[in-house]
Amino acid sequence: MATVYLNGEYLPAEQAKVSVFDRGFLFGDGVYEVIPVYQGHCFELEGHLARLQRSLDGVRINNPLTDVEWSEMIQTLIDRNGGGDQAVYLQVTRGVAPRDHLFPANATPSVFVMSNPMQPIPDAFKAQGIKCITLPDIRWQRCDIKAITLLANSLLKQQAHEQGAQEALLVKDGHLTEGAASNAYIVKNGVIYTPEKNAEVLPGITRDVVLRLAEQAGIELHQQMITEAELHDADEIWISSSTREMLPVTLLDDHPVGNGQPGPVWQRLITLYQHLKQEQNLG
Ligand code: PDD
Repeated sequence: MATVYLNGEYLPAEQAKVSVFDRGFLFGDGVYEVIPVYQGHCFELEGHLARLQRSLDGVRINNPLTDVEWSEMIQTLIDRNGGGDQAVYLQVTRGVAPRDHLFPANATPSVFVMSNPMQPIPDAFKAQGIKCITLPDIRWQRCDIKAITLLANSLLKQQAHEQGAQEALLVKDGHLTEGAASNAYIVKNGVIYTPEKNAEVLPGITRDVVLRLAEQAGIELHQQMITEAELHDADEIWISSSTREMLPVTLLDDHPVGNGQPGPVWQRLITLYQHLKQEQNLG
């Protein structure tokens, strides 16, 4: 059985229990991270821990662990769960307290971490691309915080799934924000565009990697607003996330994107992305 970490202890998953008074349960009052693990090594751990700190600051929860403590605990969990390719999920909530909207005076943040085998990305998603639909972005106004409160994201992803799509691309006031669980990009005439970092999008760690790789490869990239019209007129569309890496979108709202095949700019970057994964494992 998988081992999980809960408030200082490593436990068999079945034995990990939290109070019904945990504010994560009652209010969705917490933040989380998902960290990909390749061959037993965390990918871009520093970036994930920095974003965790940013999210905690955003909701005013003290970080219960130092970065060194996080790193050691996460590595212990990965090793105990057999190494290989995993996805680490961690969450910090404001802790256990009598139900009250106001912050409790003395609650200790709850820390829960699990690591599961990484779900393989179907070959067809890379060979043929995925299908997306556009939906109105019904989320709150602090999407830059990686909050555990994912009801809107869940509703959107479910709607996409029920329409045979792998992701929903979200539109707010006539422009693209991101996917329900991913960042989004378009390519037009060889130039990459992605929405700039602001409160409407999660500052994706995979997005940071994509930006770095594009720069190293000398591919022009602009972080700027993408209108719905530009989205529908793109040569290529991609999404990125820690669990899905970079995937090409070849069908949007039942219309082919570009020529309906994964595009050359995506091909180039996904190759560089795979090289980087290898390098980090060797390093
Ligand atoms: N989600 N935007 C949203 C709304 C997300 O939920 C995610 C990732 C991303 C991509 O961020 P990153 O590259 O750091 O994974 C963007 C994770 C994987 C999840 O909720 O499972």
